[in-house]
Amino acid sequence: MKEINVTINGKKVTGREGQTILELAGENGIDIPTLCYHPELPPIGSCRVCVVEVEGSRTLVGSCHTPITEGIVIQTHSPKVLEARKMIVELLLTSHCGNCFMCDKANICELRGLAAELEVGIPRLMGKKRFYPVEDVSPYIVRDLSKCILCRRCVRACREIAKKNIFDVGYRGFDSKIVVDCDRALDKEACRDCEVCTSFCPTGALSKKKEPFKEDKRGKPIVVGAGAPEQDT
Ligand code: FES
Repeated sequence: MKEINVTINGKKVTGREGQTILELAGENGIDIPTLCYHPELPPIGSCRVCVVEVEGSRTLVGSCHTPITEGIVIQTHSPKVLEARKMIVELLLTSHCGNCFMCDKANICELRGLAAELEVGIPRLMGKKRFYPVEDVSPYIVRDLSKCILCRRCVRACREIAKKNIFDVGYRGFDSKIVVDCDRALDKEACRDCEVCTSFCPTGALSKKKEPFKEDKRGKPIVVGAGAPEQDT
């Protein structure tokens, strides 16, 4: 495969034809934050969190979907890049529902993790927030679209990995929303429990339904993994 000479953060490195800036950076120990990108899915460059500076380019470019070219000079953590990344995350948080304390996925939420990493606190901007009722009709999945950041990872994972095509993006602009068919509920007719979309969702928008508490004969909750319940005497 053809080798390509690149300068990244002042260091001369060699990449391969077809490689993206993000992949090359990763190979050279440079961590560029991402959100809509997932290594198992084709990149779509929708969130812009992964932007970098490329010499000669008028705008910042998304590193997850931009291939390297011969002689390209890249800055991954310049002041301009860091400022843009922080602003992008702040804007995402501005329209996010923000009740992280109540969210089951708070500790693994990639948006929250990214905000902490980039030191983005409570958004300074006041913007319209998306609010949708929590949808709990599926026996397997709870959908809380107020927490959706429209990264489309569920759409791509369902299509590419689960080989189904349940989700798509409906409506336009601020009203854009991940929909099932013509915006109907995700019920058991539409979806079986493959867990692909829930595992690819970076926020609490899609989560696996919790097992209801089971009780023993005396009405005490059975703790999973705690061994056999006590026998009644
Ligand atoms: S991670 Fe590259 S645009 Fe979202």
